[in-house]
Amino acid sequence: MPTFAWQAKIRGERGLAINVESVGARNPAPDPSTDVKGRADAGTQRPARILVVDDEAHVRAMMGSALERQGYDVQLAASGHEALEILERNAFDLVLTDIVMQDGNGIALLERVHGQQPQLPVVMVTAIHDISVAIDAMRRGAYDYLLKPFEREHLVSTVQRALDHRVVLQESHTYQQNLEQVVRARTEMLRQAMDNLENSYDVTLEALGDALDLKDSETEGHSKRVTAYTIALARAMGISPIEIKVIARGAFLHDIGKMAIPDEILRKPGTLTPEEQEVMREHCTRGYHMLRKIPFLCGAAEIVLTHQEHYDGGGYPAGLRGGEIPIGARIFAVADTLDAITSDRPYRKARTFDAAREEILRCSGTQFDPGVVEMFLKMPGELWNELRSEIDLQSKRYSAFDIAHAPDLPSL
Ligand SMILES: [Fe+2]
Repeated sequence: MPTFAWQAKIRGERGLAINVESVGARNPAPDPSTDVKGRADAGTQRPARILVVDDEAHVRAMMGSALERQGYDVQLAASGHEALEILERNAFDLVLTDIVMQDGNGIALLERVHGQQPQLPVVMVTAIHDISVAIDAMRRGAYDYLLKPFEREHLVSTVQRALDHRVVLQESHTYQQNLEQVVRARTEMLRQAMDNLENSYDVTLEALGDALDLKDSETEGHSKRVTAYTIALARAMGISPIEIKVIARGAFLHDIGKMAIPDEILRKPGTLTPEEQEVMREHCTRGYHMLRKIPFLCGAAEIVLTHQEHYDGGGYPAGLRGGEIPIGARIFAVADTLDAITSDRPYRKARTFDAAREEILRCSGTQFDPGVVEMFLKMPGELWNELRSEIDLQSKRYSAFDIAHAPDLPSL
């Protein structure tokens, strides 16, 4: 390596500006204006740790000694390779490295350090004719550079500036992390609150569905079964979970408008007259108007309104056809018929799931969307049986609960 003026000065030649021996003699106590203990690590108050990398022993020694006399904790490395080994085992607050060294250049070391510890400042030390390299080093992430020859004061002030910069970076990083933690915690709280709210909504809906089942005894358990069938079909059709929630609520409340139908029509054992049928058909729009003003049920209201539409336009209330009918309502239509056929009615016994499959296939393209029917037929028949048994079991558990024999219940 070329000999520079500052190296000559270290050897005690004329014009010595920085001298390993004289640095301490001229300024034996740490400079109070550079309170490294406080600035290097505000949390631990420990001295800042600096790694000095230079392949020339006397340069290393000079810089190390000058910095130690300032109160810094200094470690020396004779090559980029050794520096990397030391960095693997120890934590530092700053790296000071020569640019041109025998085992490679300081730029490679800079890139490794910057890649692995982006918050660790690296100051490059270079001779004046390397100025373009030094600038290039800064583009690659070096914090600053020191031009040889340099005064001790210049070394100290550059080091302190770099350490201050590191503190600012660390504080900003910590602030960012805290902020992210706060945002994550708040988001989770909000999500839980939304979940709780949604659960409360669904419990309310269940009560509404149960109320309807009580009013319309012919459909006991129908709302829950048809919801389960609709969900299973919607999943098989690849509908998104968010949309399935909306469809499920619509399926569960599909006949909610029957609450507004007079009992003498709703519970009439015989065939309805045309006028009575007309009143009965109003349950779709009545249900729709009941739900549409409730924000979290406006999507479900659409299913309620269209659940009696037929794929070929032969349904009611609007005679919609094909894709005009929401997909949820087209899926529901199949599920509803499946449950109707496989449930007892006062005027007939329940038929088998195979019979329901035949009937649904027969009405594909007229009452039902052929795409939904195709998916329904691909699904295993036992699935519907299992779902039905599960829901029946739940209903039995509920109805078997005898309030008179529940001693722990508070008296009303
Ligand atoms: Fe209906």
